[in-house]
Amino acid sequence: MHEDISGVYVVEMDDGSIRLATRNLAPGIKVYGETLLQHGGVELRLWDAYRSKLAAAFMKGLKTSPLRDGIKVLYLGVASGTTCSHVSDIVGNDGRVYGVEFSPRVMREFLERVAKYRRNVIPILADARLPTEYAHLVEEVDVIYQDVAQPYQSKILVDNADFYLKKGGWAFLAIKARSIDVTKEPSEVYKREVETLKDGGFEIVHVVHLEPYDVDHAMILARRT
Ligand SMILES: C[S@@+](CC[C@H](N)C(=O)[O-])C[C@H]1O[C@@H](n2cnc3c(N)ncnc32)[C@H](O)[C@@H]1O
Repeated sequence: MHEDISGVYVVEMDDGSIRLATRNLAPGIKVYGETLLQHGGVELRLWDAYRSKLAAAFMKGLKTSPLRDGIKVLYLGVASGTTCSHVSDIVGNDGRVYGVEFSPRVMREFLERVAKYRRNVIPILADARLPTEYAHLVEEVDVIYQDVAQPYQSKILVDNADFYLKKGGWAFLAIKARSIDVTKEPSEVYKREVETLKDGGFEIVHVVHLEPYDVDHAMILARRT
């Protein structure tokens, strides 16, 4: 188990390389073709840092994570569930992951690959820019994870936090810099997004650039005070 990150395993492969993994909450089921390993009676799923920005952030040295067994997470932009499935593994059956996705086609994949096998995942077909639309489905959460690749990402996060994030709660914000503003260099985009988060009551705890796993992306970890 990772000595700093709850629920995350560090696996040394035969060639000496280091990979991350989580304990498979749906034994025998793969989500995106990942390798399953048996380790001391536990089934682990390798977590591909080239496919998941959260794994990339951990591989790039992020040592703080609010994710742990039993907590509730609002996940904005679940797509077909690659990262969400590992978050589901970490929070376990006593936790919840509310997964919001606005593309019906992508949501169908999410249902088939992830939600169908995991009772801690609640799929929500909705637009994350309109947080009141899922108020009847989501309760107060400990963490918001956001990866929507949309302009005004920080504003979307702050608006959702106003409704759903508990006091002292945490947020991960994956920034696809060039999707926000093609005319600006990533560093300017990061700065602007960070300012919006601060104005929305967040303290920035870490900003991790994700290259080489994900070029031009960063992961922001923030806490609402
Ligand atoms: C980069 S992908 C997410 C990848 C995913 N987080 C993962 O790591 O497995 C972004 C997703 O956000 C969805 N999305 C974009 N804007 C959205 C919005 N306003 N509300 C809900 N989903 C949105 C897109 O349809 C897409 O599936």
